[in-house]
Amino acid sequence: MTAILGIETSCDETSVAVVDDGRRVRCNLTATQFDLHAKYGGVVPEIASRAHIERLDALVEEALTQATCQPDEIDAIAVTQMPGLIGSLLVGVTAAKTLAWAWDKPLVGVNHIHAHATSAAIDLPHDPWPAVALVVSGGHTSLYLVRDYDDIRLLGATIDDAAGEAFDKVASILKLGFPGGPIVDKRAAQGNPNRVKLPRTMLGEVSLDFSFSGLKTAVLYHVHGPGRTTGGLERLGESDINDICASFSAAVIDVLVEKTLAAARGFGVKTVVVGGGVAANSMLRARLGERCAKDGLALHLTPMKFCTDNGAMIAALGYHLFSRGRRDDLSLSARASIGLA
Ligand code: KG4
Ligand code: ZN
Repeated sequence: MTAILGIETSCDETSVAVVDDGRRVRCNLTATQFDLHAKYGGVVPEIASRAHIERLDALVEEALTQATCQPDEIDAIAVTQMPGLIGSLLVGVTAAKTLAWAWDKPLVGVNHIHAHATSAAIDLPHDPWPAVALVVSGGHTSLYLVRDYDDIRLLGATIDDAAGEAFDKVASILKLGFPGGPIVDKRAAQGNPNRVKLPRTMLGEVSLDFSFSGLKTAVLYHVHGPGRTTGGLERLGESDINDICASFSAAVIDVLVEKTLAAARGFGVKTVVVGGGVAANSMLRARLGERCAKDGLALHLTPMKFCTDNGAMIAALGYHLFSRGRRDDLSLSARASIGLA
């Protein structure tokens, strides 16, 4: 048995997990920071990194206690190295390097987006590869061809807003609160997805890239009037807001579903996996389920508890990389961006 301690601090969630053999999650503890950022309507990087510093040590200690695990029973430490907010990443990477040095353990740096792309496998008895992976989070919307944990190829990505970012911005236009995704999801369930005509930006027939900024602007103008950015919200009732949430969600999800299925067809892959915060969205889960069943594709949705940022997915991917020989040394450095990877 191989036990991995996973540390995730790329954005506004401090999360620590202990996972055996990439699948048995002994403990996955997450401290969210919603309360600290809510009044600003988005994540403030300096506040996020400071909160990680204040919380991480205690969370590591608590995770080991809950997993009934001594430091000497840990086989390696996996940490999110990229991409994310640089100050936040630095806290996790520095803590992981310090523990690796103090406990004399191997260190594995993990790509956060690759961890989302492979998180559906945590609860599966077997690896589902090859698969097309849709990663939909607050910072990223990407399609990958996953042949193995260390063979993940980017097929397409958003050229502007990420899907989660679009959910958050629409929630902010409608003054629904932060983070917007879960609130828009709930309101959409009570609304009519055909009420408001909104664009589905496909960027051409063969493109696997995404664009959501036009959709966000269309919602803005629908609420306030063409070319206007304020003044229209008061005219809307609760059911109008529900209909806007449903119509917006349907527009995002139509594009996500079409492109994911096109990627599976294009690469002759029979399995689709989905991860990232927006993978928790109920309309996305339902519509992808229907379409994959119709096209004869196996669909593995990441379990809800591993959709938003968590240490378990970092420990799990860390395990698979570690067992394929990956080791990092104490020169491991945090990277805000991954470029096209
Ligand atoms: O993966 P994640 O925790 O952080 C990043 O790596 O970005 O994703 C957070 C994003 C936020 O934009 C949040 O609004 C969105 O995921 N989200 C949702 C839902 N739950 C979280 N979006 C739509 N529907 C949801 N149920
Ligand atoms: Zn994430």
